[in-house]
Amino acid sequence: MPPEPSNSEELVLSFLAEAGDEFVSGEAISDKLGLTRAAVWKHVEALRAHGYRIDALPARGYRLAEVPDRLTPLELRPLLNTHDVGQVLHWHEEIGSTNDRARELAEEGAEHGEVVIAEAQTAGRGRRGRGWSSPPRRNLYFSVVLRPELPPARAPELTLVASVAVCEALRQAGVEAGIKWPNDLHASGRKIAGILTELAAEPERVSWVVLGIGVNVNARAEDFPEDVRAEATSVLLERGQPAPRALLAAACFTALEEWIDRHAEEGFGPVAAAWRKRSVTLGREVVVKVEGRDVVGTAEDIDETGALLVRTRAGRERILTGDVALLRTVRAT
Ligand code: BTN
Repeated sequence: MPPEPSNSEELVLSFLAEAGDEFVSGEAISDKLGLTRAAVWKHVEALRAHGYRIDALPARGYRLAEVPDRLTPLELRPLLNTHDVGQVLHWHEEIGSTNDRARELAEEGAEHGEVVIAEAQTAGRGRRGRGWSSPPRRNLYFSVVLRPELPPARAPELTLVASVAVCEALRQAGVEAGIKWPNDLHASGRKIAGILTELAAEPERVSWVVLGIGVNVNARAEDFPEDVRAEATSVLLERGQPAPRALLAAACFTALEEWIDRHAEEGFGPVAAAWRKRSVTLGREVVVKVEGRDVVGTAEDIDETGALLVRTRAGRERILTGDVALLRTVRAT
């Protein structure tokens, strides 16, 4: 890990980041932060050593010209305006799986909102025992520890909360993302992000939930394993230009926190409404693989628990878990 940045270094960085393309004078920074001009200079030098490009002009001051494509607390914290999510950030250059680490931390007493984030995973896990392609520095791989006040039966709602939030962050980044039941993020009919939710519960309440989120950001086609290449996409492939991973991570944290708070205050209703609005599943003819059998029919709705309601020839079937294949559109959603 690079050495931890000092708090003043982060403050100088935030100040420069807030000024955007503008120069800010050394005097303004030192007045605002209560530092000497020499200290400001020292922090600018330290930031440059961390890979930041900072222009300096004698009469005008400093300007942040380029930030490194890394996800350490130094890059992320100045971009965050959350109160919980990501305020404690465990960064790893490489890790087996951020979900495994987050589960350990949760068992050791991690707080609501703590995040484990990695530049690469060597054993990234997907839903239903699958792997998750996690090449270094291309994408986002992070896991959020939550301590919700929820009975265990309501915990699955949080997966839909996460899918709505990540969908919103992707759309802000200019990707026309939608949600495929239960929680895959799709763009142009291909998967761009996935969510793996794990939890521990007592009979009456959830002890912890880990939301593991993988977003394909700057992966090129050749970065995906051959067996998923035809079904996967990334922000880069959708927009034709790379996206700053730190900005997208911060947007995901912000949207997650907003939706988690809203869910805690208002319940599942608004989440379900937002999910329906962004769904690419509802109104489609689907084949759902459920425990070895195929359920064929029209995806009509989700119920108050997030289960998928499929109209089949035999009636309405309620599906709690399964893999959905989308066939043709039955009605516009
Ligand atoms: C899916 O199969 O759609 C879920 C994929 C979840 C991948 C993320 S990447 C960060 C976190 N760590 C893991 O090992 N998995 C999740």
